[in-house]
Amino acid sequence: IKSVVRITTGSQTLDELLGGGIETLCITEAFGEFRSGKTQLAHTLCVSTQLPLHMHGGNGKVAYIDTEGTFRPERIVPIAERFGMDANAVLDNIIYARAYTYEHQYNLLLGLAAKMAEEPFRLLIVDSVIALFRVDFSGRGELAERQQKLAQMLSRLTKIAEEFNVAVYITNQVIADPGGGMFITDPKKPAGGHVLAHAATIRLMLRKGKGEQRVCKIFDAPNLPEGEAVFQITTGGLMD
Ligand code: GTP
Ligand code: MG
Repeated sequence: IKSVVRITTGSQTLDELLGGGIETLCITEAFGEFRSGKTQLAHTLCVSTQLPLHMHGGNGKVAYIDTEGTFRPERIVPIAERFGMDANAVLDNIIYARAYTYEHQYNLLLGLAAKMAEEPFRLLIVDSVIALFRVDFSGRGELAERQQKLAQMLSRLTKIAEEFNVAVYITNQVIADPGGGMFITDPKKPAGGHVLAHAATIRLMLRKGKGEQRVCKIFDAPNLPEGEAVFQITTGGLMD
Protein backbone atom coordinates (compact mmCIF):
# COMPACT_ATOMS: atom_id res chain seq x y z
CA ILE A 1 0.00 0.00 0.00
CA LYS A 2 1.30 3.42 -0.98
CA SER A 3 0.82 6.18 1.54
CA VAL A 4 0.16 9.79 0.65
CA VAL A 5 3.06 12.22 0.89
CA ARG A 6 2.25 15.90 1.31
CA ILE A 7 4.69 18.39 -0.14
CA THR A 8 4.96 21.92 1.18
CA THR A 9 4.10 24.84 -1.09
CA GLY A 10 6.46 27.09 0.86
CA SER A 11 3.51 28.91 2.42
CA GLN A 12 2.26 27.53 5.72
CA THR A 13 -1.14 29.15 5.23
CA LEU A 14 -1.54 27.51 1.85
CA ASP A 15 -0.30 24.18 3.21
CA GLU A 16 -2.91 24.36 5.96
CA LEU A 17 -5.65 25.04 3.43
CA LEU A 18 -4.50 21.95 1.53
CA GLY A 19 -4.32 19.77 4.60
CA GLY A 20 -0.53 19.75 4.68
CA GLY A 21 0.60 20.48 1.13
CA ILE A 22 0.08 19.08 -2.34
CA GLU A 23 -0.54 15.35 -2.28
CA THR A 24 0.95 12.40 -4.07
CA LEU A 25 -1.40 9.87 -5.66
CA CYS A 26 -3.56 12.60 -7.15
CA ILE A 27 -3.66 15.57 -9.49
CA THR A 28 -3.59 19.14 -8.24
CA GLU A 29 -4.69 21.64 -10.83
CA ALA A 30 -3.98 25.33 -10.43
CA PHE A 31 -5.99 27.71 -12.53
CA GLY A 32 -6.04 31.44 -12.61
CA GLU A 33 -5.27 34.47 -14.69
CA PHE A 34 -1.80 35.39 -15.98
CA ARG A 35 0.75 36.16 -13.26
CA SER A 36 -1.46 34.63 -10.59
CA GLY A 37 1.42 32.40 -9.48
CA LYS A 38 0.82 29.06 -11.20
CA THR A 39 4.33 28.80 -12.58
CA GLN A 40 5.95 30.22 -9.44
CA LEU A 41 4.24 27.53 -7.38
CA ALA A 42 5.67 25.00 -9.84
CA HIS A 43 9.17 26.40 -9.28
CA THR A 44 8.77 26.29 -5.52
CA LEU A 45 7.53 22.70 -5.65
CA CYS A 46 10.54 21.74 -7.78
CA VAL A 47 12.65 22.49 -4.74
CA SER A 48 10.39 21.57 -1.82
CA THR A 49 9.71 18.12 -3.29
CA GLN A 50 13.40 17.38 -2.76
CA LEU A 51 13.35 18.24 0.93
CA PRO A 52 13.39 15.33 3.37
CA LEU A 53 10.04 14.15 4.68
CA HIS A 54 10.57 15.68 8.12
CA MET A 55 10.90 19.08 6.43
CA HIS A 56 7.58 18.57 4.64
CA GLY A 57 9.25 17.53 1.41
CA GLY A 58 8.88 14.42 -0.68
CA ASN A 59 12.49 13.25 -0.70
CA GLY A 60 12.28 12.68 -4.44
CA LYS A 61 13.03 13.90 -7.92
CA VAL A 62 10.94 16.16 -10.11
CA ALA A 63 9.79 15.81 -13.70
CA TYR A 64 8.85 19.06 -15.42
CA ILE A 65 6.99 19.26 -18.73
CA ASP A 66 6.96 22.82 -19.97
CA THR A 67 4.62 23.71 -22.83
CA GLU A 68 5.08 27.48 -22.71
CA GLY A 69 8.82 27.84 -22.22
CA THR A 70 8.43 29.55 -18.85
CA PHE A 71 10.64 27.32 -16.69
CA ARG A 72 13.58 29.37 -15.36
CA PRO A 73 16.43 27.32 -13.87
CA GLU A 74 17.92 30.51 -12.45
CA ARG A 75 14.76 30.94 -10.36
CA ILE A 76 15.51 27.59 -8.72
CA VAL A 77 18.77 28.92 -7.24
CA PRO A 78 17.37 31.40 -4.69
CA ILE A 79 14.52 29.03 -3.86
CA ALA A 80 17.00 26.24 -3.10
CA GLU A 81 19.04 28.64 -0.97
CA ARG A 82 15.94 29.69 0.93
CA PHE A 83 15.36 26.04 1.87
CA GLY A 84 19.05 25.57 2.71
CA MET A 85 19.72 23.24 -0.21
CA ASP A 86 22.52 23.02 -2.74
CA ALA A 87 21.16 24.63 -5.92
CA ASN A 88 23.19 22.48 -8.32
CA ALA A 89 22.09 19.28 -6.66
CA VAL A 90 18.50 20.49 -6.77
CA LEU A 91 18.77 21.34 -10.47
CA ASP A 92 20.28 17.93 -11.21
CA ASN A 93 17.18 16.29 -9.78
CA ILE A 94 14.77 18.18 -12.03
CA ILE A 95 14.21 16.32 -15.27
CA TYR A 96 13.06 19.00 -17.67
CA ALA A 97 11.40 18.65 -21.05
CA ARG A 98 9.85 21.19 -23.37
CA ALA A 99 6.78 19.96 -25.26
CA TYR A 100 5.81 21.41 -28.62
CA THR A 101 2.63 19.57 -29.56
CA TYR A 102 0.01 17.69 -27.56
CA GLU A 103 1.35 14.44 -29.04
CA HIS A 104 4.84 15.35 -27.97
CA GLN A 105 3.47 16.12 -24.51
CA TYR A 106 1.84 12.69 -24.37
CA ASN A 107 4.95 10.89 -25.56
CA LEU A 108 7.06 12.72 -22.99
CA LEU A 109 4.72 11.39 -20.32
CA LEU A 110 5.29 7.85 -21.51
CA GLY A 111 9.06 8.37 -21.41
CA LEU A 112 8.91 9.86 -17.94
CA ALA A 113 6.82 6.98 -16.67
CA ALA A 114 9.59 4.63 -17.77
CA LYS A 115 12.11 6.76 -15.86
CA MET A 116 9.91 6.79 -12.78
CA ALA A 117 9.99 3.03 -12.70
CA GLU A 118 13.74 3.27 -12.14
CA GLU A 119 14.27 6.38 -10.03
CA PRO A 120 12.40 7.82 -7.06
CA PHE A 121 10.27 10.67 -8.37
CA ARG A 122 7.78 12.47 -6.17
CA LEU A 123 6.44 15.21 -8.44
CA LEU A 124 5.35 15.61 -12.04
CA ILE A 125 4.58 19.11 -13.34
CA VAL A 126 2.79 19.95 -16.57
CA ASP A 127 2.76 23.72 -17.07
CA SER A 128 0.41 24.31 -18.88
CA VAL A 129 -1.55 21.14 -19.43
CA ILE A 130 -3.96 22.72 -21.90
CA ALA A 131 -2.00 25.28 -23.92
CA LEU A 132 -0.97 22.91 -26.70
CA PHE A 133 -4.48 21.52 -27.03
CA ARG A 134 -5.70 25.01 -27.70
CA VAL A 135 -3.18 25.40 -30.49
CA ASP A 136 -3.44 21.92 -31.97
CA PHE A 137 -7.24 21.77 -31.86
CA SER A 138 -8.18 25.34 -32.57
CA GLY A 139 -10.90 24.67 -35.14
CA ARG A 140 -14.59 24.70 -34.36
CA GLY A 141 -15.16 21.13 -35.44
CA GLU A 142 -12.29 19.77 -33.38
CA LEU A 143 -13.79 20.07 -29.93
CA ALA A 144 -14.84 16.43 -29.57
CA GLU A 145 -11.43 15.17 -30.62
CA ARG A 146 -9.69 17.66 -28.35
CA GLN A 147 -11.75 16.57 -25.34
CA GLN A 148 -11.04 12.94 -26.11
CA LYS A 149 -7.27 13.52 -26.34
CA LEU A 150 -7.34 15.65 -23.22
CA ALA A 151 -9.17 12.90 -21.35
CA GLN A 152 -6.51 10.45 -22.50
CA MET A 153 -3.75 12.74 -21.26
CA LEU A 154 -5.42 13.17 -17.88
CA SER A 155 -6.02 9.49 -17.46
CA ARG A 156 -2.33 8.91 -18.12
CA LEU A 157 -1.47 11.51 -15.47
CA THR A 158 -3.76 9.83 -12.96
CA LYS A 159 -2.15 6.50 -13.70
CA ILE A 160 1.34 7.94 -13.16
CA ALA A 161 0.27 9.54 -9.87
CA GLU A 162 -1.06 6.25 -8.60
CA GLU A 163 1.56 3.92 -9.97
CA PHE A 164 4.61 5.86 -8.78
CA ASN A 165 3.14 7.67 -5.78
CA VAL A 166 3.91 11.07 -7.27
CA ALA A 167 2.11 14.36 -6.92
CA VAL A 168 0.93 15.64 -10.29
CA TYR A 169 0.74 19.42 -10.53
CA ILE A 170 -0.88 20.85 -13.64
CA THR A 171 -1.74 24.40 -14.59
CA ASN A 172 -4.57 25.82 -16.61
CA GLN A 173 -5.44 29.32 -17.69
CA VAL A 174 -8.72 31.07 -17.14
CA ILE A 175 -10.00 32.53 -20.35
CA ALA A 176 -10.34 36.25 -19.85
CA ASP A 177 -11.39 37.00 -23.38
CA PRO A 178 -13.70 34.42 -24.91
CA GLY A 179 -13.95 36.37 -28.15
CA GLY A 180 -12.43 35.18 -31.37
CA GLY A 181 -14.06 31.80 -31.46
CA MET A 182 -10.98 29.97 -30.24
CA PHE A 183 -12.12 29.23 -26.73
CA ILE A 184 -15.06 27.05 -26.01
CA THR A 185 -15.50 27.17 -22.27
CA ASP A 186 -17.36 29.61 -20.12
CA PRO A 187 -15.12 32.62 -19.41
CA LYS A 188 -15.58 32.14 -15.68
CA LYS A 189 -14.53 28.52 -15.87
CA PRO A 190 -11.14 27.03 -16.54
CA ALA A 191 -10.41 25.80 -20.03
CA GLY A 192 -10.89 22.09 -20.53
CA GLY A 193 -14.42 22.01 -19.21
CA HIS A 194 -15.78 18.87 -17.64
CA VAL A 195 -12.96 16.64 -18.77
CA LEU A 196 -10.43 18.46 -16.65
CA ALA A 197 -12.81 18.94 -13.75
CA HIS A 198 -13.29 15.22 -13.49
CA ALA A 199 -9.67 14.13 -13.44
CA ALA A 200 -8.24 16.80 -11.18
CA THR A 201 -8.70 15.75 -7.61
CA ILE A 202 -7.88 19.15 -6.17
CA ARG A 203 -8.40 22.39 -8.03
CA LEU A 204 -6.77 25.55 -6.78
CA MET A 205 -8.18 28.86 -7.87
CA LEU A 206 -5.44 31.51 -7.81
CA ARG A 207 -5.88 35.22 -8.10
CA LYS A 208 -3.81 38.35 -7.66
CA GLY A 209 -4.00 40.37 -4.47
CA LYS A 210 -2.09 43.49 -3.55
CA GLY A 211 1.48 43.72 -4.84
CA GLU A 212 3.16 40.33 -4.62
CA GLN A 213 0.24 38.93 -2.67
CA ARG A 214 -1.75 36.08 -4.14
CA VAL A 215 -4.92 34.41 -2.96
CA CYS A 216 -5.75 30.72 -3.26
CA LYS A 217 -9.16 29.19 -2.87
CA ILE A 218 -9.98 25.51 -3.20
CA PHE A 219 -12.60 24.95 -5.83
CA ASP A 220 -15.33 22.41 -5.33
CA ALA A 221 -13.73 20.00 -2.80
CA PRO A 222 -16.25 18.86 -0.21
CA ASN A 223 -13.61 17.19 1.98
CA LEU A 224 -11.36 20.27 2.30
CA PRO A 225 -12.09 23.40 4.30
CA GLU A 226 -13.63 26.38 2.59
CA GLY A 227 -11.77 29.61 2.83
CA GLU A 228 -8.78 31.27 1.30
CA ALA A 229 -5.07 31.34 1.83
CA VAL A 230 -3.10 34.50 1.21
CA PHE A 231 0.56 34.07 0.31
CA GLN A 232 3.37 36.05 -1.30
CA ILE A 233 5.53 35.39 -4.31
CA THR A 234 9.10 36.17 -3.33
CA THR A 235 12.53 35.57 -4.83
CA GLY A 236 12.78 32.58 -2.50
CA GLY A 237 9.52 31.15 -3.83
CA LEU A 238 6.09 31.08 -2.23
CA MET A 239 5.96 32.28 1.38
CA ASP A 240 3.41 33.46 3.91
P1 GTP B 1 0.73 32.73 -16.77
O1 GTP B 1 1.60 31.54 -17.02
O2 GTP B 1 1.09 33.91 -17.56
O3 GTP B 1 -0.75 32.37 -16.91
O4 GTP B 1 0.92 33.19 -15.24
P2 GTP B 1 1.30 32.37 -13.93
O5 GTP B 1 0.07 32.17 -13.13
O6 GTP B 1 2.10 31.17 -14.27
O7 GTP B 1 2.18 33.44 -13.15
P3 GTP B 1 3.64 33.24 -12.57
O8 GTP B 1 3.66 32.11 -11.64
O9 GTP B 1 4.62 33.26 -13.68
O10 GTP B 1 3.77 34.57 -11.69
C1 GTP B 1 4.43 35.68 -12.17
C2 GTP B 1 4.61 36.64 -11.01
O11 GTP B 1 5.51 36.06 -10.06
C3 GTP B 1 5.25 37.94 -11.42
O12 GTP B 1 4.26 38.84 -11.79
C4 GTP B 1 5.95 38.36 -10.17
O13 GTP B 1 5.03 39.06 -9.38
C5 GTP B 1 6.26 37.07 -9.45
N1 GTP B 1 7.69 36.70 -9.54
C6 GTP B 1 8.30 35.98 -10.48
N2 GTP B 1 9.62 35.89 -10.25
C7 GTP B 1 9.84 36.55 -9.10
C8 GTP B 1 11.01 36.83 -8.34
O14 GTP B 1 12.12 36.43 -8.67
N3 GTP B 1 10.84 37.56 -7.20
C9 GTP B 1 9.63 38.01 -6.81
N4 GTP B 1 9.52 38.70 -5.70
N5 GTP B 1 8.51 37.78 -7.54
C10 GTP B 1 8.61 37.07 -8.65
MG1 MG C 1 2.81 30.38 -16.06
